[in-house]
Amino acid sequence: MSGLREIIVCFRNVRKDYGATTIVPDFSLDVRRGELVCLLGPSGCGKTTTLRMLAGFISPTSGEILIEGQDVTRVPAYRRDVGIVFQNYALFPHMTVAKNVEYGLVSIGMRREERADRVQEMLLRVELQQLAARYPRELSGGQQQRVALARALALQPKVLLLDEPFSNLDAQLRARLREDLRNLIRNLEMTTLFVTHDQEEALTLADRIVVMNKGAVEQVGSPEEIYDAPATWYVAQFIGQCSLLEGQILDGTLFRTDDGLTLPVSGQAGKTTAIIRPEGVKKAHEMPAVPSQRATIEASDYHGALTRLHLRIGASKLIMDSQFPVGQKPIPGEQIDIVIDPGGLRFVPALQ
Ligand SMILES: Nc1ncnc2c1ncn2[C@@H]1O[C@H](COP(=O)(O)OP(=O)(O)O)[C@@H](O)[C@H]1O
Ligand SMILES: [Mg+2]
Repeated sequence: MSGLREIIVCFRNVRKDYGATTIVPDFSLDVRRGELVCLLGPSGCGKTTTLRMLAGFISPTSGEILIEGQDVTRVPAYRRDVGIVFQNYALFPHMTVAKNVEYGLVSIGMRREERADRVQEMLLRVELQQLAARYPRELSGGQQQRVALARALALQPKVLLLDEPFSNLDAQLRARLREDLRNLIRNLEMTTLFVTHDQEEALTLADRIVVMNKGAVEQVGSPEEIYDAPATWYVAQFIGQCSLLEGQILDGTLFRTDDGLTLPVSGQAGKTTAIIRPEGVKKAHEMPAVPSQRATIEASDYHGALTRLHLRIGASKLIMDSQFPVGQKPIPGEQIDIVIDPGGLRFVPALQ
């Protein structure tokens, strides 16, 4: 996403307390025009609270929220030009699909003919023209979700907010709707804030991901940056699979775990945690130039194309994804010679 585009949403040191409990300590973020940003974190970390502060349903305890440069911190929700799709869709059960989509247009006083045109256009966009006369109960979960999306987009909001919009759908449908949603948002160049606890959803959808932990931002970056170069221990273990080895870098050239596993590295001396992705562990013969390690296979999980091995070297545990020809199935208890690809090795600050 172009760094030159205008900032549409700005959270400036936003804090939210409930009584003596701080839910969001200090949240700052810029979202640029047309950008799709995911707030990602486990349940209870403050994603919905943050989104609702932007929508205007919850007032921050302190800090400011700007939309297109205007301070909206004290502007009521209905005057913020924000479209929202909730987790449970919140469709009006007694209204048809078309009436649901039209609802917000009536409340802003749009003329009847213009409303009809806008509803048509929105239904076309989400491919629901055929179902305009149906009631929500006559629709599948995926269709209801598209109605909620059309309803939110009909008002041509400055920013679209989605709070776990796929969580009530099965995995296959979720993957397809994710694709549809991304295309729709791209075509409309709609600035979007998307909340999810699902790392795969965030990795596949987002231009940028905000990884949250107990209301605090751990890291902001593209999906590639978050996966390849996690900034903290928390981000590394939350996104994707990885092995975390506690140890220290000695004289800038050698990483040594507390139980004596050593890896050649270049980095700043001191206590650190090494992060190794499963694809960064290879069979010794694949990288003959790198010193190999003998590991014990503790468990082996078959995943079709890949087999995931849980390995142990001394007290250190490693996860490895690799392919094994038929008849060479790895057996727990056996030993295997492996290398850790130095190119895939990352370091984050040690836990304590
Ligand atoms: N109205 C409220 N009063 C007190 N605590 C609340 C209120 N709303 C949410 N919380 C608490 O704030 C935390 C974050 O909630 P939420 O933003 O819904 O998290 P998420 O959407 O990431 O699952 C939770 O611990 C929740 O219990
Ligand atoms: Mg939530």
